[in-house]
Amino acid sequence: MAETLTIRRPDDWHLHFRDGDMMRDVVPFTARQFARAIVMPNLTPPVTDSASAAAYRERILSAVPDGIDFMPLMTCYLTDDTDPDDLARGAAEGIFTAAKLYPANATTNSAFGVSDMARLDPVFARMESEDIVLCIHGEVTESHIDIFDREAEFIERHLRRIVRDFSKLRVVFEHITTSEAVDFVLECGPNVAATITPQHLHINRNAMLVGGIRPHAYCLPVAKREQHRLALRKAATSGSPKFFLGTDSAPHPRHAKESACGCAGIFNAPFALESYLAVFEEEDALEHFEGFASLNGPAFYKLPINKATVTLKREPHKVPDMLTAAGEDIVPFHAGETLDWKLVD
Ligand code: NCD
Ligand code: ZN
Ligand code: ZN
Repeated sequence: MAETLTIRRPDDWHLHFRDGDMMRDVVPFTARQFARAIVMPNLTPPVTDSASAAAYRERILSAVPDGIDFMPLMTCYLTDDTDPDDLARGAAEGIFTAAKLYPANATTNSAFGVSDMARLDPVFARMESEDIVLCIHGEVTESHIDIFDREAEFIERHLRRIVRDFSKLRVVFEHITTSEAVDFVLECGPNVAATITPQHLHINRNAMLVGGIRPHAYCLPVAKREQHRLALRKAATSGSPKFFLGTDSAPHPRHAKESACGCAGIFNAPFALESYLAVFEEEDALEHFEGFASLNGPAFYKLPINKATVTLKREPHKVPDMLTAAGEDIVPFHAGETLDWKLVD
């Protein structure tokens, strides 16, 4: 049994930092593990133009602890009124690494998202010609569609068409949760990939609902049946370059989750790498861990692989029941559980 594991320094290809005090308190958790992160733009108000993205990037950089090398990669929040010229200029200037499509009202802070997918075609066309990556929260929002079916429906109603009509556009199907999403990504060409979160590899919907309602296991897309979790584990650990690490760490104060209408999002940043590694070990796929965590993402985004390395060692440790961020209690993923691997600082 391996006792230590050294890999190229990984990156997080889907992350929520928020802003202000919360951002300052959560950035160090990510920066100690990851060299870069795709920072999601769903602030209030959202990051919809290159000037606000550049300013947000500076605020994040000022929260990175001294001596740590960390680069936030910024995304543009697409709306019905996105200006393709500003997006293209922001990408050319190195401010935007990608643009993020939220169907309006699909998830946390998505009210300003896209209400009519077809209206965005000129933006998709421009992104395709400029080779800008499109990150998608892939769920339909129609009220009559069951929440457990919303990802699979999105594939049929929107994703197939987008991928067909813009066949060179690079698309990341974010935080996939179903076997349908795995199959779709595998059917597509190399310009379509997916991120997978630690929670969707560890839990199915029972974790949310058995023995009481557990708001800290609630995120969007919501965890599905066991068969889907198994399909995700197979995909993540298969060695396919189409799947890579994206934590979707989404901090919310404890009171906002433990509520009559609790918000969606799991805060997994503190032990994200250790959480993923547990899955790869359980699946007997340690040889594919570095690809998933550190190689596949840069290859897809056409960015260099990180030069530095990180080492993890077998050292069981308990995840705290609670942490503090922005003066608030916040419950991390795996709270109270023991993880077998620890990142060596
Ligand atoms: C995210 C958040 O809180 O910003 N929540 C979540 O449940 N995943 C938004 C998102 O990624 O959809
Ligand atoms: Zn999302
Ligand atoms: Zn997210």
